[in-house]
Amino acid sequence: MSKDDLKQIKPEVKRETFSTGMAVFFATLGSAVGLGNIWKFPYMTGMNGGGAFIIVYLIFVLLIGIPIMLSEFYLGRKTRSNVLGVFDKLKASKFWKIIGYFGLLSAMFIMFFYSTVAGWVYSYVFKALRGDFASLATMGIDEARKASEAQFVQASSTGIAPMIWQFIAVAVVAVILIGGVKKGIERVTKTLMPVLLVLIAICAIRALTLDGAKAGVDFLVKADFSKLTTSSILAAMGLAFFKLSLGMGTMVTYGSYFNKENNLIGTSVKVALSDTAVSLLAGFAVFPVVFTFNLAPEGGPGLLFSTIPLVFSLIPFGNILLISFFFLTAIAATTAMISMVEVPVAILKEEFKLDRKKAVLISTFVMFVVGVLTSHPHSVFGSAKIMGKSFFDFFDYMSSNIFLPVGGLLIAIFVGYFVKKSDILEEFNNEGTIQNGSSVKLFLLVLKTITPVMLIIVFLNAVGILKI
Ligand code: TRP
Repeated sequence: MSKDDLKQIKPEVKRETFSTGMAVFFATLGSAVGLGNIWKFPYMTGMNGGGAFIIVYLIFVLLIGIPIMLSEFYLGRKTRSNVLGVFDKLKASKFWKIIGYFGLLSAMFIMFFYSTVAGWVYSYVFKALRGDFASLATMGIDEARKASEAQFVQASSTGIAPMIWQFIAVAVVAVILIGGVKKGIERVTKTLMPVLLVLIAICAIRALTLDGAKAGVDFLVKADFSKLTTSSILAAMGLAFFKLSLGMGTMVTYGSYFNKENNLIGTSVKVALSDTAVSLLAGFAVFPVVFTFNLAPEGGPGLLFSTIPLVFSLIPFGNILLISFFFLTAIAATTAMISMVEVPVAILKEEFKLDRKKAVLISTFVMFVVGVLTSHPHSVFGSAKIMGKSFFDFFDYMSSNIFLPVGGLLIAIFVGYFVKKSDILEEFNNEGTIQNGSSVKLFLLVLKTITPVMLIIVFLNAVGILKI
């Protein structure tokens, strides 16, 4: 019997991988780009005073984000495993599995509120189709602002509609995920992402010709560091983790689906830069509108929903563009959620030996049932507070500012100090087929020193132990 025959009798259990380099890039970007860019980045920038916050954010992307993304890619592709399995494969101490459990918790916490916001986005597609925003075009500035804000209040807090939209958002994720990684994730991401980009660009271009454009642009590019507080620095760090889908094993899981020719360093730099470009573009679409229509920059989570209908009301065929904008945002939110849910799914499947369908259904069921706490402001839970925050804010705060950074810190320490340098070099050089030696050295240096030190300082500062 020849070797090939033997292989056929005992086929290796093969994991699916993404097919081409482009598919890897778009799938990874599909995880990174989501509500974080379009919804969270603008409103957090608004709440934290503008330009200075953005600069701090960029520093974190560069010195914490990219090194941790590379570490996650390394763990995933090297072991072809989920976040728990990684440490068995590397024969590391059981202690490190805590990273996987933190990841599981983060995935849950993020989904609890993310699915609510995704639900708002879906409901906006429906509202735009129904023509709810048609009258904005005929109103004066103050009247239009009030009407737009009222639409958001109505969409986010009336009756059980927000819960139903949240359910739909989670159900769509479940259906796609049952279809599997390659078919599900790849197909959606590589076709539709570029279209969303064009729509945000249209929005930004129109916004930049408004009366308030100068004030909006100034808000984004003029850095007033006196507006920064320790909590806004922590928030900027949390946002960098949240934005780049780091600290909980999403990029480990995705890395495990990368093909072996992929240049990990190139992919991570491209993903981080493109993701940041999308966030900034969204900022340029939102803030000129804020200043033209006298909205409050620090208005919070409703900011996107009150501003975007206003820009499109000023563009010919704006309603069609508005429908497309929210439709594509819903898709971006969906691909991001897919990458979150894939973390518990991969764990349930590979560690607990469930079939894919069961793993997806169990994960999404928990996400919806607990997530409902965040979607219904007037429900019995509405005024409930946990550690002084609403459920929505609590899940958001805990995941971005604590779980993800702690997970990220442990990942940085593990890869920086507990993996052999030669193994890392080999993986980043694709077993010698490419030469990334000096970039890898730089990466390791930052990963071992600046990344963990910065992370710890931001933490200690935020809890008040250290005062800088
Ligand atoms: N990065 C996504 C966004 O900006 C959200 C996201 C997807 C995420 N997967 C994640 C955040 C994993 C943290 C961890 O919308």
